[in-house]
Amino acid sequence: MIPFVAISLLALATLVQGSLFTDPTKLPATSYDFIIIGAGTAGSVIATRLSEDSSVRVLVVEAGISDSEGPTSDIQVPFLVSKALPSTVYDWNYTTVPQTGLNGRQLFYPRGFVVGGCSTVNFMGFTRGSSDEYDRIARVSGDSGWSWKNIFKYALKGEQHVDDVDDPDTAGRFNPAVHGHGPLKTSLAGFPTAAVDARVINTTQELKEFPFNLDMNSGNPLGVGWLQSTIDKNVRSSSATAYLHPALKTGTNIDVLIHSRVSRVLQTGTKDGLPVFLGVEITQSRNSHTLKLTARTEVILAAGAIGTPQILMLSGIGGKSELSRIGVKPLVDLPDVGKNMHDHPYITLAWAVNNTNTIDSISFNQTAFQQALAQYDANGTGVFASNALFNQLGFFRLQNASGVTQKFGDPTAGPLSPHYEFALSNGFLGAAQRPPTSGNFFSSAVILVSPTSRGSVVLNSSSIFDPPTIDPAFFTTAFDIAAMTEAIRSLQRFVSGSPWKSYLGLQWLPDGLNTSTDAQIENYVRSSAISVNHACCTAMISEDGANGGVVGSDLRVKGTSGLRIVDASILPNVPGAHPQAEIYIIAERAADLIKQSSRIRY
Ligand SMILES: Cc1cc2nc3c(=O)[nH]c(=O)nc-3n(C[C@H](O)[C@H](O)[C@H](O)COP(=O)(O)OP(=O)(O)OC[C@H]3O[C@@H](n4cnc5c(N)ncnc54)[C@H](O)[C@@H]3O)c2cc1C
Ligand SMILES: *[C@@H]1O[C@H](CO)[C@@H](O)[C@H](O)[C@H]1NC(C)=O
Ligand SMILES: *[C@@H]1O[C@H](CO)[C@@H](O)[C@H](O)[C@H]1NC(C)=O
Ligand SMILES: *[C@@H]1O[C@H](CO)[C@@H](O)[C@H](O)[C@H]1NC(C)=O
Ligand SMILES: *[C@@H]1O[C@H](CO)[C@@H](O)[C@H](O)[C@H]1NC(C)=O
Ligand SMILES: *[C@@H]1O[C@H](CO)[C@@H](O)[C@H](O)[C@H]1NC(C)=O
Ligand SMILES: *[C@@H]1O[C@H](CO)[C@@H](O)[C@H](O)[C@H]1NC(C)=O
Ligand SMILES: *[C@@H]1O[C@H](CO)[C@@H](O)[C@H](O)[C@H]1NC(C)=O
Ligand SMILES: *[C@@H]1O[C@H](CO)[C@@H](O)[C@H](O)[C@H]1NC(C)=O
Repeated sequence: MIPFVAISLLALATLVQGSLFTDPTKLPATSYDFIIIGAGTAGSVIATRLSEDSSVRVLVVEAGISDSEGPTSDIQVPFLVSKALPSTVYDWNYTTVPQTGLNGRQLFYPRGFVVGGCSTVNFMGFTRGSSDEYDRIARVSGDSGWSWKNIFKYALKGEQHVDDVDDPDTAGRFNPAVHGHGPLKTSLAGFPTAAVDARVINTTQELKEFPFNLDMNSGNPLGVGWLQSTIDKNVRSSSATAYLHPALKTGTNIDVLIHSRVSRVLQTGTKDGLPVFLGVEITQSRNSHTLKLTARTEVILAAGAIGTPQILMLSGIGGKSELSRIGVKPLVDLPDVGKNMHDHPYITLAWAVNNTNTIDSISFNQTAFQQALAQYDANGTGVFASNALFNQLGFFRLQNASGVTQKFGDPTAGPLSPHYEFALSNGFLGAAQRPPTSGNFFSSAVILVSPTSRGSVVLNSSSIFDPPTIDPAFFTTAFDIAAMTEAIRSLQRFVSGSPWKSYLGLQWLPDGLNTSTDAQIENYVRSSAISVNHACCTAMISEDGANGGVVGSDLRVKGTSGLRIVDASILPNVPGAHPQAEIYIIAERAADLIKQSSRIRY
């Protein structure tokens, strides 16, 4: 349906050269200094930084496809973000187990199956989260190097703000002082939606509960501010386009093997009484031969919050009895592998509006859609250049008067971390509901960003080709329902502000459901919530000496030698933010930790 986007801008001048392999037997070596498992968000950062010394040889093994295969317009063109997933060539196609907190519904659980990982297919929202999030990692790990004060330099090292192609006037919409000089590009929404933008900003002036925040990436995200997206003027910026492709272009010391799954890490010896895991087993299909490669210095697992615990468990690293039950020989007893899974659920509220200047007028109208696409193809401008789904986000704490934190305790990282979020949309946004095919809408997601429900990733077979059992366990605590109820009431207060009086028409979502009482709201939440796809914490960090957790403060897997994890699975909590920014920051610091502990002089 979507024609190939021929614009030269999108021809990806940075397409990989000789060092991209699809056949593992063609690799020039079977031994590398570093082997990185997963060319995803974190893996591409690590590979790129470790390759900065040209004498170091780096291999990245990626299960998925190249980001120049498939309908590339779906992953490059900002307006088409929501087409990349689920159930496409870019997706792992996971589903969750029936969710007891969601009336037994099973959810799609998309994950990027492509170079760049989820950063190649996500919604591009760029939110660092509060300083408290990083200070909590420092607290949990006993390493002040993770604190906001000490890690902020890596935020600046990794990212750079660029002007949007359509609207370079950024005055009053972000703070240049908190942005850096790195490879990942971020920009503000370039598609002005006057009717909604002015109402949102006016609401921040009228209602004290919803103050304006000039830049949510300053360490204090609370309030309503303008969305920043990982868009380089008018195309997606991912860890593949920002890091890996440029590194492949300039260096000859990175090899990237795609279409290849790591099925296990293998013990290659013993050091100081610990098993050394410098072997990596690779396979391309259920019936193909496996190949063994070795790392001279380290193996870095960056397969994400689902892939990393799956590979660990298949390798015998996990809960002893759990592994034995599935027929995997336990080697390292780490019961927290795959546990503590933490993710964000959301619902939406939507209203019909009497205004044709909404994104629905483009997404529901093929003529308008094709016109906008033709403009983008012609000169890279217009609504297709923008992450048009949201122009503003809001992050808020529960009001003390609600009594929720008094009753259940406060799970946030600290006073600057939000309990819930609004993602305000100048168009229709649903959750589990089927979208309409015509009309004009205003909607907002209400995201619970401080859930206390924790789930798990558990092996269901000893084959890497069988998906693990994924259970985010949404809304299985009383706090989560109580906090979400307050968050929905908060959005109801937001739209009761005078700017919305003449604008909002019939309430479209919830569809026919009354949401006056707590019980009615709970019913709506359980029947319509889905995931924001922010899975974390399945190989959690903890203090070096502590019993629980999977990695120590320097991200080495406990009870092993030679093996580290760098991806969303090491986080102790899902951040009160969309997590990619934090993952880039952690990966930048982790690359320095790995460099410092290796004998290589950078
Ligand atoms: C649809 C969607 C929308 C999202 N929207 C946003 C957003 O707007 N903003 C935001 O901040 N976050 C968003 N996220 C979340 C964010 O993108 C992820 O949390 C983050 O990118 C994860 O990074 P990672 O490095 O941990 O894992 P990934 O980026 O998933 O990387 C893991 C890589 O490992 C590979 N892999 C897995 N198993 C194996 C194996 N056995 N062998 C070899 N390779 C393997 C995978 O294919 C993948 O490439 C979204 C996620 C999704 C799915
Ligand atoms: C997911 O499903 C799509 C569509 O059927 C398919 O093309 C893709 O290969 C699947 N992904 C995986 C990892 O099997
Ligand atoms: C929508 O706006 C138009 C133009 O202002 C007006 O004529 C019309 O009556 C409005 N419709 C509704 C349903 O409010
Ligand atoms: C669809 O878009 C075209 C081009 O902008 C416009 O002329 C037409 O009126 C639109 N159709 C509807 C039903 O709004
Ligand atoms: C791009 O094309 C559109 C529509 O054809 C036009 O209105 C706009 O001025 C062009 N912009 C640039 C920068 O060329
Ligand atoms: C809410 O309670 C906390 C802890 O008692 C206090 O620090 C904070 O100032 C209160 N906030 C408001 C808005 O009253
Ligand atoms: C686990 O494996 C069994 C047997 O192959 C299968 O029937 C079941 O659907 C699998 N469960 C999940 C969650 O994948
Ligand atoms: C927003 O506030 C300004 C200044 O008070 C006012 O001029 C404008 O009409 C308001 N816009 C909307 C859409 O409410
Ligand atoms: C919604 O439920 C409340 C509480 O039960 C009730 O007072 C109200 O009349 C209901 N509204 C509608 C439109 O049914």
